[in-house]
Amino acid sequence: MGVMREFNRDSLGFIERAQREYGDIVWMRFLYVPAMFLYHPNEIEYVLTTNARNFVKAMSLRSNFFHRLVGNGLLTSDGEDWKRQRRLTAPAFHRERIAAYAQTMVGYSERLMTDWREGQVRDMHREMMRLTLEIVVQCLFSADVSRDVDEVGETLKQLVKPFAAQATVKWIINNRLPTPQHLNFHRLAQKIDRVVYRIIAERRASGKDEGDLLSMLLATRDDDGSQMTDQQLRDEVMTLFLAGHETTALTLSWTWYLLGKDTEVERKFHAELDEVLAGREPTMADLPKLKYTEKILKEAMRLYPPAYGLGREAIKDCEIGGYHVPAGTQVFVFQWATQRDARFFEDPAAFKPGRWTTEFEAQLPKYAYFPFGAGPRVCVGASFAMMEMILVLATIGQKYRLALVPDHPVEIYPAMSLRPKEGVKVTVEQRNR
Ligand code: HEM
Repeated sequence: MGVMREFNRDSLGFIERAQREYGDIVWMRFLYVPAMFLYHPNEIEYVLTTNARNFVKAMSLRSNFFHRLVGNGLLTSDGEDWKRQRRLTAPAFHRERIAAYAQTMVGYSERLMTDWREGQVRDMHREMMRLTLEIVVQCLFSADVSRDVDEVGETLKQLVKPFAAQATVKWIINNRLPTPQHLNFHRLAQKIDRVVYRIIAERRASGKDEGDLLSMLLATRDDDGSQMTDQQLRDEVMTLFLAGHETTALTLSWTWYLLGKDTEVERKFHAELDEVLAGREPTMADLPKLKYTEKILKEAMRLYPPAYGLGREAIKDCEIGGYHVPAGTQVFVFQWATQRDARFFEDPAAFKPGRWTTEFEAQLPKYAYFPFGAGPRVCVGASFAMMEMILVLATIGQKYRLALVPDHPVEIYPAMSLRPKEGVKVTVEQRNR
């Protein structure tokens, strides 16, 4: 079994112990597969950037299960396929293009709060999952297909349940077996395919630019004039659904949790909102002024990075930190460990948004903090996510204070991403500015 059992029993504990006991470079085996854990920014830089060409995505991303969902989209593809897709997709995420979504982000946050009542208990993990799904579906497909937006949203929610419940190795290995759960998964995947393909066909036929992500993806041309095929569009749309909503929802959930635990940070957060917005809805133009809110998010992603580890596979033999690494080795780096390393972050377990000063950032080794990854495979949606998260925090934080329900256990559950196991329960309290 190699370290498989120990890793599955307590992944985060195992990741921490391996570094504590063996240092910055640790070799091990998962079943018959050789693996290396790397903890130091120098080696992280080597794998993600300097020698990125010698690595493809790790074996774990190539499971049938994952592939059925996102196909050969940006997150999972490699080599020339990936390069072309990235070239075609990246323009849709440039700052000036995504600015148009600010209104959607604020509007949906407002809508979420319409049925909140003073003193109610809400699970912020659930609320944020709903909100970010609505936002990403809307930004991809826009309002003219609102009938489909609901259907896509609902199907998607069902579809990702196995991920949400437990993205276990067992599920991934067994997904070919005709169990009711797996048959249901494949049925839902077909259903969402049908909707997505239909939307693509209708949009192609109308030729209208709706200003949403789908229109942008449809309009992009490669240097030789070629466009994305329907299949590529479908894979990209599914990738954006999956990569684009849970990570954002989790960061927001952990942020509400951290704010609820620290009244001083919460007070400063509210003070900034009152000063900058004075009761009006936030807009894109407010983003540069919401500096403290941005620091809160940075610090939350340091302590609770939704993507808590990244995996690669070496294509050819190479050398890392003086060690020979044979082709086929699975190489892992962990935001969870490096972003909590006392060599780079003083008092690493403490939630201190104030640490993110310009001077601190200037001296921080670049690869000691990488919640969005780094190098050529860095998150294409990072600006989209930051904008969305700041706007959601500001819109909600301006109206409500979210007090943690005492005694509700908030436990970390490392599935595909870092989740609060039993959610984040809060009591909503209307704020008086
Ligand atoms: C807080 C929110 C987010 C976090 C923490 C996050 C994190 C990441 C990380 C760590 C990677 C790199 C994976 C790797 O190197 O193996 C990545 C890639 C990616 N992310 Fe995000 N992400 C977030 C939001 C989003 C959003 C909002 C979108 C789209 C709407 C998005 C779309 C993607 C895509 C398509 C990739 C693959 C890029 C490529 O390989 O070229 N992400 N993300």
